[in-house]
Amino acid sequence: MKRTVRKSEPVRNTEYDPFARVYNRHWGKDYRAEALPIVEKLLLSRLAPGAAVLDVCCGTGQFTQSVTTLGYDVAGIDASGEMIAFAAQNAPGAALTVADARSFSLDRKFDAAYSVFESLNHIPDRQGLLSVFRAVRKHLKPRAPFLFDLNREPAFILYWNTVDALVAEEDVCVLRMDYDEQTRVGACRMTTFRKDRVWERDDFTIRQTCHEDYDVQDALREAGFRDIALCDARDAGMEGDAGYARTFYLVTR
Ligand SMILES: C[S@@+](CC[C@H](N)C(=O)[O-])C[C@H]1O[C@@H](n2cnc3c(N)ncnc32)[C@H](O)[C@@H]1O
Repeated sequence: MKRTVRKSEPVRNTEYDPFARVYNRHWGKDYRAEALPIVEKLLLSRLAPGAAVLDVCCGTGQFTQSVTTLGYDVAGIDASGEMIAFAAQNAPGAALTVADARSFSLDRKFDAAYSVFESLNHIPDRQGLLSVFRAVRKHLKPRAPFLFDLNREPAFILYWNTVDALVAEEDVCVLRMDYDEQTRVGACRMTTFRKDRVWERDDFTIRQTCHEDYDVQDALREAGFRDIALCDARDAGMEGDAGYARTFYLVTR
């Protein structure tokens, strides 16, 4: 069944809009392949078949679709309308809403929620995290679990101080990345070229914040979450590059 995309409110964070097409085509395959078994083991195994699951920052929806295919009733929210437009194609059975994770409001409650691929590193500060945690908690049924992953500082130091490029038939993407240890902010300045008869250029910046673990846990508690459990991605079985210095947080409403 194909569902329609809702827009729950005016959204400010659209830094992924210009990235959406390249992301949809080329990003995250390895991550998704390694993350799905972790989400299944830590989160989905606790749910009844057909349970209602919320994908927070669902992006282009390939992961959303994987969870839908496992038989769950999945809804996704993301701040980027362009990312959600691809999600509507990739996850046609999911209920999708363009909304900021810090302030969204859906008219239903879920048996579980997850946010993967370090999406919450895009939230700039502790206050923002607190807003996300409060908004997610508001949408969960009592005792429902919430799982998310965050990159730790060694990952920023290793992966966010590089220059990289992707060259494909109809997309070229150059990434210049800097991580500032003072502010704990990583900036990825991207230049993309895409071929739509002629080559079109876009320049934009995507930022992530390296949250302190004590801020994350403090904000979780302040939002009302409990049973906070941390799992290193390597210990959870993520053996590739994406597993380096990444923590999965599993909490209960
Ligand atoms: C690295 S992508 C991950 C997307 C998806 N979870 C996946 O696994 O492919 C991060 C996503 O977070 C979204 N995002 C960033 N800040 C957001 C916010 N404040 N509210 C909602 N979505 C946000 C971006 O638009 C982007 O789609």
